[in-house]
Amino acid sequence: MRVIFSDPSLKRLGTYVVFTSDGKKLSSGAADLDPETLDVVKSALNTSQFKGEKGKYLEVFTPPKSRAEKIIVVGIGKLQNIDELAAQSIGGSIFQALSSSSSRAGYVLLDEIKGRKISNSKLTAHIAYGCMLRSYRFDKYKTQEKREVKKSLVSVTMMLKDSSTARGLFSPLKSVLEGVFFTRDLVTEPANVIFPISFLARLQVLKKLGVKLEVLDEKQMKKLGMGALLGVAQGSAHKPRLVAMRWDGAPKSKDKRPIAFVGKGVTFDTGGISIKPSGGMEDMKWDMGGAGVVAGLLYALAARKAKVNAVGVVGLVENMPSSTAQRPGDVVKTMSGKTIEVINTDAEGRLVLADALWWTQKKFKPHTVIDLATLTGAIIVALGYHYAGMFTNNDQLGKKLSLAGEITGEGVWHMPLGDSYDKQVRSQIADMKNVGGRDAGSITAAQILQRFINKDIAWAHLDIAGVTWAQSASATVPKGGTGFGVRLLNKLVEEHFEQ
Ligand code: BES
Ligand code: ZN
Ligand code: ZN
Repeated sequence: MRVIFSDPSLKRLGTYVVFTSDGKKLSSGAADLDPETLDVVKSALNTSQFKGEKGKYLEVFTPPKSRAEKIIVVGIGKLQNIDELAAQSIGGSIFQALSSSSSRAGYVLLDEIKGRKISNSKLTAHIAYGCMLRSYRFDKYKTQEKREVKKSLVSVTMMLKDSSTARGLFSPLKSVLEGVFFTRDLVTEPANVIFPISFLARLQVLKKLGVKLEVLDEKQMKKLGMGALLGVAQGSAHKPRLVAMRWDGAPKSKDKRPIAFVGKGVTFDTGGISIKPSGGMEDMKWDMGGAGVVAGLLYALAARKAKVNAVGVVGLVENMPSSTAQRPGDVVKTMSGKTIEVINTDAEGRLVLADALWWTQKKFKPHTVIDLATLTGAIIVALGYHYAGMFTNNDQLGKKLSLAGEITGEGVWHMPLGDSYDKQVRSQIADMKNVGGRDAGSITAAQILQRFINKDIAWAHLDIAGVTWAQSASATVPKGGTGFGVRLLNKLVEEHFEQ
């Protein structure tokens, strides 16, 4: 599916989209429709239950002579509430309405929707963005549905005066969109397709955008003493990789220190010897969600040429049980020198991140580090599927993240850290153990990560276990891999870290 920006014209054959906020009055763009069609739409509105609620729509069949094969009236709710996010939701509803009415081409009449906070062009760009975000499909393994796909929506045309301004505003959003799709693809691919080496192969496309890749193999990681990451990897036939993606977009004269993003990239998490129950284990193909977001974010930043120095690091491993797997009770030594007693091999994300975080700080000297990980089931118990858990040593960074979450609809909820949780991870024979019991499971996990963060670094950890995969669709996110985090962190960079 693609979006097109064009000046208004009613010559083309297809489904036309107009708007209403109260279910009686149509947006002024509708005035361009021929009188007969307009009458039909008006009487349909008068007789229907539809009140113009946001996210709802009415499908109206048109008289035979009309150029419009169908009219869809989309509800936009309260006009004064339309901001970027609301515009995106409207775009999502438009996609939903057009595709469920089996339209091939949609024409959105956007002129003169009055009474909003944002300009018409910005509104249009964000409607287009939302429409595209919702259009994501992953059907490469469906071999029997070719005919159905052929019937599906091909294009949506945004029609407004001065369409070129809207097209210009859409351009950076399209870069972010591509980043989100890149993430969703990585997350949705099964684990026989995406494993450390093949994940790395997917990252090669970033080079075309000007991102530099740096790769550590097993031997190099061994030399650096990354015993925690390697301990997780040692049960799998798939060899681990640690990959850094560098985007140097800041003007040369400015501060060179980057902001760093670090992702948990467990390409499949069986639990290892502390094996998980089989029900739902297939979900653990997306235990590389954090790494997927880091890759998609770097894609977005590079594609829109963000004026920032950013580095993305992903720790890629597969957690398998086998005769070479690590055992409960093993003690591993991290690159930092600290030792960890592995009580439960299923608490592997923190082991991978311990070394990935340490290496990132040593190697790139970042001022800020944000890690993302599908780290704990406990964060789903705490927050469900709507917010990511956010842990930070820096309240200012926390506020910035919260605000970026509100703007993008990818919300983060500030969770506590504190020394009093540390006794839960005391080990009898090592510096710490890797689990702290059931209570406050997400917090003790974050406390462990914090032990691998230098005090002078602004750090935030996002536990995205609940938001990486959607069980049902929402306005701009179809069921499945969400890409949660790409829009959030892109916004954070845009608002606070570009020079
Ligand atoms: N990958 C899981 C966490 C997870 C659970 C992600 C559900 C997405 C959905 C993680 O590696 C894990 O297994 N964590 C354990 C930790 C426990 C053993 C302390 C958990 O949450 O049960
Ligand atoms: Zn696990
Ligand atoms: Zn895991």
